[in-house]
This record gives sequence, C-alpha cells and structure tokens, in this order.
Amino acid sequence: MVSLVVVAVFLLCGTLFQPPQVAAFKPLFQDGSLTHREITQMAILRKTAEVCRDIATAQGHDFTLPINNRLTPSAVQEACSASATSLSAVSSHGFYSAITQMFLSNAVVDQLFALSEAHHIDNEAFSEGRDLIIQGVAAVKASVQQESYISARNTLGALCHTLQDFYSHSNWVELGSTAPFSTLIKPERPLNNLAGPNTPTCKSCTGSNCRDNILPEILLQKKLTSGYFSVFSSTKPAGKCSHGGSLDRTSSREPTGGINKDDIRSDHGFLHHRAAEMAINATVEVLQDIRLATGDQAFLRLVGLSQTSVLAFVIDTTGSMHDDIEAAKNVSFSIIDSRRGTPEEPSEYILVPFNDPDFGPLTRTENADIFKERINSLSATGGGDLPEMCLSGLLLALAGASPSSDIFVFTDAAAKDLELRSTVQAMIERTRSTVTFLLTNPFLFRSRRDVSQSKSFTSKSMSLSDKQLYRDLAHVSGGQIIEVTKATLSQATAVITDASTSALVTVLQVVRSPVIAENISFVLDPSLSNVTVYITGESPVFTIYSPTGVSQSGSVEDGPLGSILTVGNLKRVKLNSDNQTGEWKISIDSTRSYSLKVIGQSSVNFLFNFVEQLEGGDFTPKNNRPFIGRNTALFVSVTGGDSVRVTDVLLVEASGLDVVNGTIKSLGATDFLVNIDRIPEWAFVVQLKGLLHDSTRSLHVRFQRQSPTQQQGSRVTITAQPNNTIEPGIPFNLNFTLATNATGSSYTIRARTDRSFNVSFPSSLDTGTDGSAQGIVTLTAPSDTESGTDVTLTIEAEDSESGDSNYVALQFTVMTKVTDFASPVCQIVSIKANCPVECSRASWELSANLTDGNGTGIAGVSLSRGNGSLSLSYVMSADGTNVTVASYNTSCCSQEVELVAVDRVGNVGTCFVSIKSPSTAISPNGSTTVSSNVSTTASSNGSSTVGPNGSTAVTPNGSYSVSFSMCVALVGLLVFFLCG
Ligand SMILES: *[C@@H]1O[C@H](CO)[C@@H](O)[C@H](O)[C@H]1NC(C)=O
Ligand SMILES: *[C@@H]1O[C@H](CO)[C@@H](O)[C@H](O)[C@H]1NC(C)=O
Ligand SMILES: *[C@@H]1O[C@H](CO)[C@@H](O)[C@H](O)[C@H]1NC(C)=O
Repeated sequence: MVSLVVVAVFLLCGTLFQPPQVAAFKPLFQDGSLTHREITQMAILRKTAEVCRDIATAQGHDFTLPINNRLTPSAVQEACSASATSLSAVSSHGFYSAITQMFLSNAVVDQLFALSEAHHIDNEAFSEGRDLIIQGVAAVKASVQQESYISARNTLGALCHTLQDFYSHSNWVELGSTAPFSTLIKPERPLNNLAGPNTPTCKSCTGSNCRDNILPEILLQKKLTSGYFSVFSSTKPAGKCSHGGSLDRTSSREPTGGINKDDIRSDHGFLHHRAAEMAINATVEVLQDIRLATGDQAFLRLVGLSQTSVLAFVIDTTGSMHDDIEAAKNVSFSIIDSRRGTPEEPSEYILVPFNDPDFGPLTRTENADIFKERINSLSATGGGDLPEMCLSGLLLALAGASPSSDIFVFTDAAAKDLELRSTVQAMIERTRSTVTFLLTNPFLFRSRRDVSQSKSFTSKSMSLSDKQLYRDLAHVSGGQIIEVTKATLSQATAVITDASTSALVTVLQVVRSPVIAENISFVLDPSLSNVTVYITGESPVFTIYSPTGVSQSGSVEDGPLGSILTVGNLKRVKLNSDNQTGEWKISIDSTRSYSLKVIGQSSVNFLFNFVEQLEGGDFTPKNNRPFIGRNTALFVSVTGGDSVRVTDVLLVEASGLDVVNGTIKSLGATDFLVNIDRIPEWAFVVQLKGLLHDSTRSLHVRFQRQSPTQQQGSRVTITAQPNNTIEPGIPFNLNFTLATNATGSSYTIRARTDRSFNVSFPSSLDTGTDGSAQGIVTLTAPSDTESGTDVTLTIEAEDSESGDSNYVALQFTVMTKVTDFASPVCQIVSIKANCPVECSRASWELSANLTDGNGTGIAGVSLSRGNGSLSLSYVMSADGTNVTVASYNTSCCSQEVELVAVDRVGNVGTCFVSIKSPSTAISPNGSTTVSSNVSTTASSNGSSTVGPNGSTAVTPNGSYSVSFSMCVALVGLLVFFLCG
C-alpha cells in the first residue's frame, strides 16, 4: 500500500514538472481563504506574544500588545523586545526567517506527501495521522534539546500540516465542537468515538449543496469521521463521506459531494473560517505543549525571536596554526566580553576544528562560556605539510549553523577533501550562509606535488589553484578571501567583529574578474548605520564619492568620508555617519580580480524563497536550483516595518551582464509574490529595491538590499520524499527522482552526510525517454546516535557531459521511536495558606510530589506561573518509584502557581494551584484566611481527580469538569483543615 503510493508520487513528479494541487487547506496563497501559511504564522505569533507577555508579567513589566489574529511579526518582535532587554529590538529578520521555514515545511507536505492519507487525515486515518503528530512533537522536543532548531522547525512545520488538516477534513467542526481536539496531541488518551469502518457517515449532496450531507445520527452520536479522497479511483467504503472537489474521484460516487473546508469554495466552505480558526487554536495548543517541555527561552529560540548573530569559526589546528588560533581566540573573546548581556551578543556559537585526517566535532552552543572553553582547548599540533580536511570541517559548520550565518575559516593550507566542493557549494546555496577565508601564509605558492615530494619542507603551502577553490567558495557565498601574514592576522579580524552584529544587511556585493576600470554605484538609506565597505584583491586602486560629491582615495587612511584599514589584500572602509543618504559611487581600477562588499546595520532587510506553481494555482516551495530559462516565482518578505515599499526585485547575474526583472504582487503589508519570467543561465544574486520613509526629512527615499549568496539555475530537477526523522541503526531508504527536459542523459550521483554516516547510492543514473530516472539512497545512523541529533544528507546529480547539476539537501532528526507516552503526575501534598488582607505581610507554601510512573523519569520541574521560590528534593517511595518533591513558597500577593514537570522524552505534566478567593473568611484572630475557594488542577493524562487524601489520580477518560469541581471542593476542605 505504502509503496504503491510512493510509486504514484514519483510517477507524478517524474513526468510532470507541476505536481497537482492537492486537497487540503491551501498551502501558501489563496485570496479570501486562510492557508497553511497564515494558520501557522498566526499561531506562532499568538503563542510567541503570550510567552513574551508572561515573561513581562513575571518581571513586573507591562505588555500592552493585544493578542489576536491581527498580529504581525514586526509588532510581536517589537513588543517582545520591549519586555525583555536581551532581545534585539533592531531586526525581525530571524523571526521572519524562522516563521517562514516553518510554514514552508508545512506547505511542502502537500507536494511531497500528496497522496498519503495519514498526512492529511483523509480516509478516517485518525490513528495514523495522530502517530505522525505525536512522533513529530517528540522529535521537535528532542531537537530543541540538542539546540538543533533548524530540524525542530522543519519537523514542527510538517506535523502542523497534519494537525491543521484534521479541522478541514474531519467533521470535528460540524459536530459543533468549541475547542480543538486535544487527543491528537495527547497520546495517552484513547481515540474514542470514531465512526467504525462499516458505519455510513454521509448522504449525497443535493446538487451542489452539501450543507447537510453528514448523517444526522453521526452528528447526534458525535461520531468522528473524515472524507475519503483519491485522484485515481472512485472506490470508497459504503456510505462514507468524501473529501470533495474536482480532483477527488470518490466524491462522484454515492454518497456524492464532500465535507472538506479547505477554502471558501469547498463543499463545506461555509465552515472554512471556523475550521481555520480552530486549526489556529490547535496549533497554539501544540506550541504551548512544546513551550512547556522546552522552557520559554528555548521556545523563543525555536521561533527565531532571540536570534541575533552567529559567531562561527572553522579552524585548522595543524602545527603551524598557533598564531591563527590565538587570533581567533582574541577576537571572539573580545566580541563576547564586550557584548555580554546586550542585544548585540551573538545568539549562537559554532566551532569546528579540522586537521588531517580528522575534522570536527561540531560545537554548537548558545553559551558563550562553553564556546570559550572549546576554543581555549584548541591547540596547534600534528598535521605538518599535507593539505587538510578543510571542506569537511566547513560542511559540518554549514549544516550546523543557522541559515544566513557568517562563517570564518582559518587556515594556512590547501584543502585535501576536494571531492566535497560541489556539496559545500550546494550547502552554501541552501543555507545562504557566507563563508570568509582568512588565509595566512599567502606568499608561498607551491603545488601539492611539490609538498609531497619534499618531506623536509615543514611549512604548508598553497598553490594558485588551491587558492582558487577558496576564492570560488567565498565568492558564491558572498564572503571574501582575505590573505594576510600571521603577524597581521589580528588586524584583519576586524571583519569578524563587523559581521557578528545583529541586523547585518548587505547593500551590495560584486565580484569582478577579468578586469576593466569600472564605476560602481549603490544607494545608502537613512535606516543604515555602521556602513562598512570592503575591497579585497591584489592592488585595486579606488576612489569613493559621496552623494554630496565629496571624494576620498583608497590610499588616504583618514579622510572626509571615513577611515581605511589596509591589511594584506583587504581594504576596509568604515564610513563616517554624516550625510550618508543617497547614491554613492566607487571607481575601481585593478589588474587582478577583486570583490566589493557594502554592509551595514539596518532593520530593513528581506528574505526570499523560490516557489513553484502547482496545477491548481497555488504554490509549493522549491528547495533547490530552479530550472534555467523557465518562469518561476519568489516569495519575498520584507522586514523592518510596514512603511517600506518594494519597487524592484531583480535577478542579477554575478557577472553583472544579465538582469531579470520580476513582477511584484503584494500579499499584505510585508509579503510579496514575485513572478520571474526566466531563471538566468549563470549564477545570480537577488536584489531588492524600494522606497522607505525618512522621518527626519519626511519624504520617501530609495534603498537597496541584496542577497550576498549567489543562486544558480539548473536543467535538471531532483526531488526526494523525506521523512523528518530516521531511527538509529535502522537503514532508511530514501527514493529520489531526477527529471529533465532532455532524454537519455547520464547523471553522476553523489550522496553524503555532514556527519559521515553510512550512505549507499547508485553511482550514476540515466534518464529514460521521459527524461526522468529514479534512485534510492540508503542512510544509516550509527545505532548509538543520541535522539535529537540532526544530520544533513545531500544528494547531487551532475550531468556527466555538461557539468550541469542540482541537489537536494535534507535534514533528518535521528530519533529512537518514543514509546513513553505517560506524562508526569503531580500530587499535591499540602498547601499552607494563611493570608491576611494586606497580602505582602505573609507568604504561603505548597508541597507536591511529582512522579513519572513507568515513564522515562522526570527530567526537570519548573514554574510556568508564579514567581516564588521553588526547591526540589528527591526521595524514593515505598514501592520504589522515584519521587521529586517540590516545595514552593511565595508571597500571599502571588496567588497562583503552575508547576511544570517534564520527563526525559518531553511529556509534560502540570499542576495549577490558586489561592484566589472571591469570598474570604475572617478567622478568629482577625486575619483573613482564604479557604473556601482554593482550586487546584493537575493535568497530565488529560483528566484527573483528587482523592480524599488530596492525591491526584489519573483516570483514563474521566470528565474534566467533574473532577475539577471535586478537586476544588476537596482541596478547599483540605486547606480549610490546614489553615483552620
Ligand atoms: C480560538 O481561541 C480564541 C482565544 O482563546 C477564542 O476566543 C476563539 O473562540 C477560539 N476559536 C475557536 C473556533 O475555537
Ligand atoms: C553602530 O552605530 C551606532 C550608532 O550609529 C553606534 O552606537 C554603535 O557603537 C556602532 N556599532 C559598532 C559595532 O560600530
Ligand atoms: C554634510 O552636508 C552638509 C550640508 O549639505 C555640509 O555642510 C557638510 O560639509 C557635509 N559633511 C560631509 C562630511 O560631507
């Protein structure tokens, strides 16, 4: 069954470039209806705002942003940074970028798993769909635990697709439900009340009117069903509802019509908005579960809100690198120490050492002290005169760092692992990260052969072609190749300080080689600060002209326009901040190739993703090289406020020779769909131009931004149907498809992971007469791989004749299948609250026992509400269970507390206690005692009841409201007893 579906998908993808629009909430754009994109974004914005509100409240700050379905990323970013000083107020780029990643991985499920009933909860596949959601949630928690936020976002986006589709495809909304179906995210709850396989659920629609096609007895008995769907066959079990719509062949058979609420024109389109709103609420609920399991700070990282800059080093540690390691250490320590506790502090640190034959491990941490410790422990040893595993180390950093990171490579030797070149380039394109090489030892040009022949030659050396590899990789990424002596390296590290600031934007980046004298102009706008111009190359002669006509020659160190640092082949021009706005010009004359790069700090930036149109009209993300010569589309988001107008989106060939102008369609204030007539033949960058409001002069002025990283087209597409998780020790077969418009081509296939996991794959594939070919990559993670570990698999296909190539880069989370679904249980032991009217004069306390039964054990206990002091101790109960005893003590003014216990796989149990009381009793000694209305709830396995001894016991499917009121009464009595 499964393999049939897979084959069917590959047939579709292999023969058609445009996969069909599948039936679900529309993935990305649909006028008048809510798409997966909007549902996901709204849920993330609401939950993020709530987290920030709670943090603000706990710190005694105000949070005034109303939390509703009209939030925008910039508004949430602003409100959050006002309430937590550690968050950058400047740029919402990281937040936009994370949200986009999540809704794109959500949207792509419609293409990759078009016909999987479980992914869309079609065909009453409730249990299978729930499994996807539950295993997905466990994987998200494990990924966050490993600080692997990219994997976590991919998995989260995908599982939200299934969760959201439930509300469109099932009859949950028709049943009159007023809250999300929490059982979908609570594995310990039984899936009750499903319409059985033989239970009819629908009758035919009356013509095109499907308003009441669900059978009355189904509605009356509140039986859950979902629509049957097939694009191939009209067969469905007797009496069952169909999905509906023109693609669904089952809906033409009795009972005709369908029940989906995908958009406002669907058969149950009259319920579309209600279903979509319920899907938003369900997504908020799963985000809350993840938040409780991971904690607020990690949650804010997950949604990209606390992302500022990344400090990423890939360092050669062979014998001659002592000075370089010292320089890396000095610059990073100075960045860390000068920015600690400020919004400019880097949010992520990456360190990868390499050597020969070793490379790695990857250190990825948010903790500056861990980074310091690791970099301190590096020592220059071994290696000697051989080239090193530079690209292996770089690949690890590219796969591990957040997208759009600036990565710095320190080396004085050639790369040995040249076979990784195309994989590294693919990862640069995919991650849009920038790679700058700091090469020391630039004056010794020797070929590898020279070196290997002369063993006595102790210094390492680099040939021109070795250097060309680094230069090419730097240029495609938008980075630089900086060649300095070991003695002057420390001056050149200024580029690292410049790059590791928040809100860094690229105004312009060009590379020129065969060289002609040229005037290059760029526009600086008032939102920019700390503008820096870099010119790298051997002996470029240049002059800079400001908008007001003032000029400064490149040989003048301190001039009217700025200060110029010259070190090795690098010229760094720090512009003064006066009179910057307007068009600048640089005239450059050089005998060799050079690069020019203009960066600054600004809240105004953009992000773009290629999307492909589906047959039905909507789009799906395109995660690799777009097809050369064909039309395509870009989804563009502009960050930095709603007053920015976009006038041009251009694909500019890196050579500057070809420019393709896109047609811009606005999708709300900050999002745009840009149609591109054709993808250029050669590597290109994306440029954005527009107008923004200059408040000091109260007029609109021009601005420009550019993607530093080059993109590239291809004449072959490669697609794979990824799982988001793989199990350690179990070979995972991944089908992939090549498709091209040429027949009978031969493609070389390469597949590898950043972690050197075992991969087997066909060495070549020939496309047949239909221009397509299928292959299988088998990936095996070592059986001792820790759950939550991420691994990036790249599969490349290269046309053996033309060299044209494409790739897919897939990230997997290694995950042992979770079997512990038991949430921790909270048992209130005592509450001592003797609170006077003047609450600040007294405190109250609570003691609770937390256990995890047969589960994996409690990993942490924290407060999600209340700001008193919590202390934990550990005992073993008489029956041998580990018990975590929580003692909580707080002022009588803080009347509520919620304890959160998380077990080792991320199952969450909470207990809530309130001593709020509308009716207070005066006790004999004159103080006011709260007694009659203490309420507690313990929520772990869904419902709970409080026994006479105050303990919380779990019942399989008890009624929540009954247990709640019982609990109020019983604990009220208990507290009365204690206090009285
Ligand atoms: C979704 O949640 C909001 C806020 O809790 C609530 O006001 C709204 O009624 C809910 N919508 C649905 C359809 O359940
Ligand atoms: C950037 O510019 C601002 C003001 O324009 C200044 O306060 C800050 O120190 C500068 N930052 C750096 C890293 O130069
Ligand atoms: C800035 O502009 C003002 C007025 O146009 C001018 O007087 C001043 O000299 C300019 N400063 C620089 C550094 O160009």
